[in-house]
Amino acid sequence: MTGISFWLNGVETQIPEAESPTRTLLDWLRDTGGLKGTKEGCNEGDCGACTVILRDETGARAVNACILFLPQLKGKAIRTVEGITGPKGEMHPVQQAMITHHGSQCGFCTPGFIASMAAAHLNGDRNHDDSLAGNLCRCTGYAPIIRAARAAETAEIPQWLEEDANIFCPEISSGGEARPGRGGQTAPLSPTTTDALAALYAATPEATLIAGATDIGLWVTKQLRRLSPVIFLNQIKELQDITATTEGMRIGAMVTITRLREAVKTSHPGLAELLRRFASAQIRNTATIGGNIANGSPIGDGPPALIAAGAMLHLRQGDTRRSLALEDFFLDYRKQDRRPGEFVEAITLPAAPDLSCYKVSKRFDQDISALCGCFNITVTGGRISSARIAFGGMAAIPKRARVAEAALIGQDWNETTIRRAMRAMTEDYQPLSDMRASAGYRLTVAQNLLLRCYFERSGVETSVLKVAP
Ligand SMILES: Cc1cc2nc3c(=O)[nH]c(=O)nc-3n(C[C@H](O)[C@H](O)[C@H](O)COP(=O)(O)OP(=O)(O)OC[C@H]3O[C@@H](n4cnc5c(N)ncnc54)[C@H](O)[C@@H]3O)c2cc1C
Ligand code: FES
Ligand code: FES
Repeated sequence: MTGISFWLNGVETQIPEAESPTRTLLDWLRDTGGLKGTKEGCNEGDCGACTVILRDETGARAVNACILFLPQLKGKAIRTVEGITGPKGEMHPVQQAMITHHGSQCGFCTPGFIASMAAAHLNGDRNHDDSLAGNLCRCTGYAPIIRAARAAETAEIPQWLEEDANIFCPEISSGGEARPGRGGQTAPLSPTTTDALAALYAATPEATLIAGATDIGLWVTKQLRRLSPVIFLNQIKELQDITATTEGMRIGAMVTITRLREAVKTSHPGLAELLRRFASAQIRNTATIGGNIANGSPIGDGPPALIAAGAMLHLRQGDTRRSLALEDFFLDYRKQDRRPGEFVEAITLPAAPDLSCYKVSKRFDQDISALCGCFNITVTGGRISSARIAFGGMAAIPKRARVAEAALIGQDWNETTIRRAMRAMTEDYQPLSDMRASAGYRLTVAQNLLLRCYFERSGVETSVLKVAP
């Protein structure tokens, strides 16, 4: 028998594969699993009310159950708020601290906060602003919650949570023939190797590939789309590899934003800082860099930074592989250079010690960019020897500022040159006005980000993040 096998609050659990493949964990927990502690707020990954802890051999992390499909649970351990509490009703230290510090009023957000806090506590993560940025509370206010998280920092990890580290179940479903599932949908395919994926997708090019489902989840929960057939990529370990090559860091398509951020912390600090601003901890823990690129959003945060760094994209269709400069992948609004049955296998990120990235959004945390500017400018002996500038949010695709780049290359590194390049940028971009920003605002800010990059590299303090708790 095939099925989806995972551990739920310490108990091995099996769901028949014939369940609808795009049924969410939240829906299943509340309607079938009988666990109503996990709440539904937005149903789109924004509020954190549905947060649970997911654990596998790579560690434990907070994720949003509302946009996590059941086949993504294969072989994982899940803890909901019911299982964060001990088997005899013992309180987890973060639960006790929330009571002591009055961190809950109506309580609707509290199970989600508890799951995020317990995940951070498990990992020894004490940056509570970061780890709780994906949890919204409408009534208590964040100060008591942060106080509670701090108070629990040094408490021991409860033994029942430690046990999850040893209980990963043997995989019992590895794809195979598609079968009719619930509601006429086709049962999902979950290949375990890149070769198997290549063969499957070449034979079924109409299938939807599902990586982290942080974009696709909303097609289901908000647009009520029925996706069939679907191919899940989460069982393919090769796509999660990060390896050093002579050209740079080769990053598999299924590497999550959290892992990418960690991997580039010292080599590409500008990119790592940008990724801190990518959605919330829960989304970063699930979203993949391959999904971010393939989705082709003009306001995705990964592509402008990777384009500025000079990244190469590696695609595969059946047995055929090809590589292209990432900027050449984006052809027009939501139109990418991707053939039927072709998928993103990896990217190569070259060294880019001079890369600076700036995300501008209405909120600091958990917000999509109005624009995102990335500058990779090398200065040799006072002169600009190379310049790659790319923006998200300024055109229908993530796009380089080639006219501004030309105005910089070969020129002296000074404010006069920078201001000339700022004026040149008007030839690169004619942005749109939308709900995030007006065209005029976008252009002015884009120009000013180049100036900011210059000031920063000249040692001038530019940080606007002065608000301290
Ligand atoms: C609350 C919230 C906040 C967000 N904030 C941000 C943000 O700040 N910045 C940002 O850039 N994005 C943000 N996003 C969007 C999303 O998280 C990213 O685009 C993410 O990287 C998508 O990756 P995924 O693995 O979840 O892709 P999925 O949702 O699984 O897939 C997205 C698309 O890519 C395709 N695909 C996936 N993998 C491959 C592959 N290997 N080859 C070919 N096609 C593939 C899928 O078929 C689909 O079309 C946010 C989303 C949510 C819900
Ligand atoms: S219900 Fe809001 S993030 Fe899931
Ligand atoms: S306690 Fe009411 S929303 Fe947080």
